Amino acid sequence: MIALTTPYLWYTTRATGMVALILFTLVASLGTLVANRIGGTIVGRFEINELHRSLSMVAVTFLVIHILTTVLDSYVATGWISAFVPMTSAYKRLAVGIGAVAFDLILAVWISSLLKLRIANTTWRFIHWFSWMGFATALVHGYMTGTDSRSGFGLVVVASCAAVVACAALWRFFGRPTRAAGRTALSPLATTKAGPRATRATPVPPRAAPPASRPFPTSPARPAKQRGPR
Ligand code: HEM
Repeated sequence: MIALTTPYLWYTTRATGMVALILFTLVASLGTLVANRIGGTIVGRFEINELHRSLSMVAVTFLVIHILTTVLDSYVATGWISAFVPMTSAYKRLAVGIGAVAFDLILAVWISSLLKLRIANTTWRFIHWFSWMGFATALVHGYMTGTDSRSGFGLVVVASCAAVVACAALWRFFGRPTRAAGRTALSPLATTKAGPRATRATPVPPRAAPPASRPFPTSPARPAKQRGPR
């Protein structure tokens, strides 16, 4: 196997790990705004939801780069399997293993959101709860594994992310308006009599085909024009 190691891979792992953590903090906070039905005339709920979704994609991109540089850097004995399966990394087994748990949880949330219109709303909601656990495990991983996260500015960043998401979680659980209960951004029918499954992508019934030949005449007969005397 070719040994590939350069300090730049390591710097990239550290930088992308921090950026991913900050982005997931923003994603979780925006998700709370969406769940608690915040949005007004200047920035509407739709825009907040779109920002939440777009930022989640940027966050996942940074996370993928973080994992790629870790695995490619042969200085640390962490292979592809260790990115998904906990406790398989020879390097910092427990700390990297907690990172793998975070990755699995975030992956589940992300994939279920991509398939949102194809799965039952209750299933999507259940899986979306994993994001809180995903963030908590990512935070513990960052603190335990990181070179920068245990002191100085790195510690301030990690502690701030923890504080912001803790406040968001408290507000989500205690400040959610009752009118929002059981509903999600794209499922306005979730609490109707038909139940949560009603929000599943319902196939649109095909339009009735037009008759092969139109009965003739198509319009009512016109009354004959009365001619006046010339
Ligand atoms: C949601 C998932 C993850 C997030 C948010 C995350 C975030 C972070 C953060 C913030 C750091 C600290 C950077 C520093 O202080 O230098 C870090 C370090 C690290 N992460 Fe992750 N990580 C995640 C998943 C993973 C996974 C799955 C792996 C394994 C492939 C991994 C491998 C590493 C390694 C090796 C370090 C140590 C870098 C160093 O030596 O400083 N991470 N991560």
